[in-house]
Amino acid sequence: MNYKTLFESLVEKYNIKVSPSGKDVYSPIDGSKLGTFDEHWNQDLDDSVQSLQKTFNQWKNYPAPKRGEMVRLFGNAVREAKEDLSKMITLENGKVYQESLGEIQEVIDICDFAVGQSRQLYGLTMPSERQDHRMQEMWNPYGIVGVVSAFNFPAAVWSWNFAIATIGGNVVLWKPSPKTPFISLMLKSIWDKTCEDADLSWAKNVLEMHMGMNAQAENICLDSRIRVVSLTGSTEMGKSLAPVVQKRFGRLIMELGGNNAMIVTPEANMKLAVKSIVFSAVGTSGQRCTSLRRLIVHNSIKKGLLEKVVTAYATIKPGDPFSEDTLMGPMINKQAIDKMQEVLTYCRTNGHIVHGGEVVGDTYVNPAVVELTKPDPIVQQETFAPILYVIGYESLDEAIEIQNNVPQGLSSCIFTDNLQEAERFIGANGSDCGIVNINIGPSGAEIGGAFGGEKDTGGGRESGSDAWKQYMKRSTVTVNYGSDLPLAQGVKFDI
Ligand code: UN1
Repeated sequence: MNYKTLFESLVEKYNIKVSPSGKDVYSPIDGSKLGTFDEHWNQDLDDSVQSLQKTFNQWKNYPAPKRGEMVRLFGNAVREAKEDLSKMITLENGKVYQESLGEIQEVIDICDFAVGQSRQLYGLTMPSERQDHRMQEMWNPYGIVGVVSAFNFPAAVWSWNFAIATIGGNVVLWKPSPKTPFISLMLKSIWDKTCEDADLSWAKNVLEMHMGMNAQAENICLDSRIRVVSLTGSTEMGKSLAPVVQKRFGRLIMELGGNNAMIVTPEANMKLAVKSIVFSAVGTSGQRCTSLRRLIVHNSIKKGLLEKVVTAYATIKPGDPFSEDTLMGPMINKQAIDKMQEVLTYCRTNGHIVHGGEVVGDTYVNPAVVELTKPDPIVQQETFAPILYVIGYESLDEAIEIQNNVPQGLSSCIFTDNLQEAERFIGANGSDCGIVNINIGPSGAEIGGAFGGEKDTGGGRESGSDAWKQYMKRSTVTVNYGSDLPLAQGVKFDI
């Protein structure tokens, strides 16, 4: 396939502006240059913020179910463009096409979810202690939500924020990853067309783009008119940007690094476990924030399970992500490969046993399994690559202790058919993560639940359940419909 031709046909079809100069974007598939995007395009944050503020005044007064209707129409347009959008994801970040389709399906799913949610921005009512008084909660939009998204899920994670924030009446300023600018411009173009087709052109400005690099993300964090900032990326990025937002008391929704583990007990269904291990560790070339990084397996079954995993890994041939037989595509760039090799060299030097991990092309690598021969601090860090550490355990207490003993807290799982073990894992003495699965790997979550994690993962929750509340300000309203003015707690103050 000629990737450049495919890219050009997509940008033409969706009317995307490709700058003659600026930052080059290369496809990790074959290193070919796709296009350039002008990192100084739309640089004037002030202009964007003013336009967003103006649009917010209209959008927040447009009824929530009608906002939901716009998101429904957008979701339908994404359905129609599903294959094109998926192709652009694969071109830009090298994700295998099947997975790109899955990512766009997440966009569609969250739109559907948001449509229903637009009629369910429920507030509680509470009995008042005062005569002829009523208390209730109102949920109102904040205003501008800044969304900083990452290369690995360039569409889905943005859509969790966009769909939910907008049905709530907010407007969105999006700074996509400079590695995947064109998928974001395609989605923006689809939003614009949806608004035009619905005769609601002004709503195009509900979504504004802020293309650029780290400096642009920082500008968003600095600007106190951007009331909510949603950050997706590394823990390092979160640690540097979160204080900037906190200093001005902005609201943060962070989805940062993960260091996800699977515990496999002697009572696990091994067939399920092996399948799940390979998908979670190798899928997206180990570049999901939910990728499986640590396999914590009971000593009595460790040897057998390891053999099965290594055998399964040997069948994975990294290759063209557009080819139907490919299960693992390239990594995002050469730096990612170098980083992975550095960690594998460290592992070998420190006496651990490394299976696989060979570099097989500029951006292609075999997935690696590292059998730890002794405890090692290397497992504390998230290497955004297909490296799976295998660690043995004796008791479930020890396994849970190992699983929790890392700075990150995104996703976790246990494979067991034993009810006691499973219940233990999901309870207060179990996993400390935001996502806790039984007999399912740590990656591949559905949009219906709240997505996010604890500790160094940043604490945010996005997508389903009641994550919508993060984009809304809660006011506690007390209404006096009587003819007297009783004070709370029975306080007397007679004048
Ligand atoms: C991410 O890697 O940032 O649960 C998001 C999953 C996907 C989303 C991953 N639904 O693996």
